[in-house]
Amino acid sequence: MNFEASAGEFVLSSKVETGKVAWRSPSNIALVKYWGKHGDQLPRNPSLSFTLSQSYSETTLLFKPREEFSTTVSLSFLFDGESKPDFEKRLQGYFDKVRQIFPFIDQLHFDIRSRNSFPHSSGIASSASAFSALALCLCSLEDALFETLQDDVVFRQKASYVARLGSGSASRSIFAHAALWGETGLVEGASDEYAIPVGDMLHSEFHQYCNTILLVSEEQKSVSSSAGHQLMEGHPFAENRYLQAGRNLMYLVESLRTGDVERFVQICEQEALQLHALMMCSQPYYILMQPNSLRIIQLIREFRLESKIPVAFTLDAGPNIHLLYRYNDRTKVESFIENNLLQYCTRSSMIQDGLGKGPIQIE
Ligand code: DP6
Repeated sequence: MNFEASAGEFVLSSKVETGKVAWRSPSNIALVKYWGKHGDQLPRNPSLSFTLSQSYSETTLLFKPREEFSTTVSLSFLFDGESKPDFEKRLQGYFDKVRQIFPFIDQLHFDIRSRNSFPHSSGIASSASAFSALALCLCSLEDALFETLQDDVVFRQKASYVARLGSGSASRSIFAHAALWGETGLVEGASDEYAIPVGDMLHSEFHQYCNTILLVSEEQKSVSSSAGHQLMEGHPFAENRYLQAGRNLMYLVESLRTGDVERFVQICEQEALQLHALMMCSQPYYILMQPNSLRIIQLIREFRLESKIPVAFTLDAGPNIHLLYRYNDRTKVESFIENNLLQYCTRSSMIQDGLGKGPIQIE
């Protein structure tokens, strides 16, 4: 699929009015992890995530016509009302990259305003929610100007593609409940270019699944995701990892379809630990778990053995623990969290989240 505009396409012929579009888009938690990329933001292996509900970005894209045509991107960015020069620079690079898809970028000036529902310092991957919200704004703008994305399936596919160019995991945030990104023969339509929705495959055991994020540390990550992916180039276990990811995806898909929660637990935890093991033996190496992450992991295993409640943990490239469990088990699991785990969190902080319905357009 090629979303690049052909000559003369998406160029404004008359002056547009000033206007704005805005989206709220969630973060997601990968169960099979995307770790390693090549080319222009293409994944080395397919990944599958749950879309969250309470952890989201809200982004408003204000646009106005430019006085003069220029191929230099013209934008400003405020996060929570404050300037963020580093991220503004990243956005300039991103807009420059997607000019081929949205040539009208050259004819407009943009003011981008964004906020997150989760604390900035919480270590939650904000690039997924940030770039998915922005990609949705750009697609909405294209549709408002040219009426080319009226079909929701086409709209979302393009938004996922555009989001991927900003941050790989953002491609998955476009869809409700669960999304799959990366080529695999397991699910029809799967692609490296964009994610596809897989919420329909979820057995009722996984409906309303809960995800509590235990904030072990609020410090900024010591390795950016991009640098992290880079570590997989020439990694001694890279080839084996990609094979394992494919296999784990197969088992995960099977467990999601059949409601095999025990299997689901096994795969989630294996994927999380493998991600961290890969980081620990890359060059340079990173140890991103903290003593309290390990303590919590231990306690979760003990709780599962004793209670027979199939609660699983997973982690991103950081020390925080995501606890995944069934809605029906929430009373017991939440009191376990309260009584046994919160003491290992920074300022006893956690975020109560769960499967979400995906992005929504806002005023
Ligand atoms: C460990 O999507 O943040 O969270 O494409 O470089 O922006 P870039 O990386 P990013 O990587 C996410 C890595 C991960 C696993 C995952 O979400 O699949």
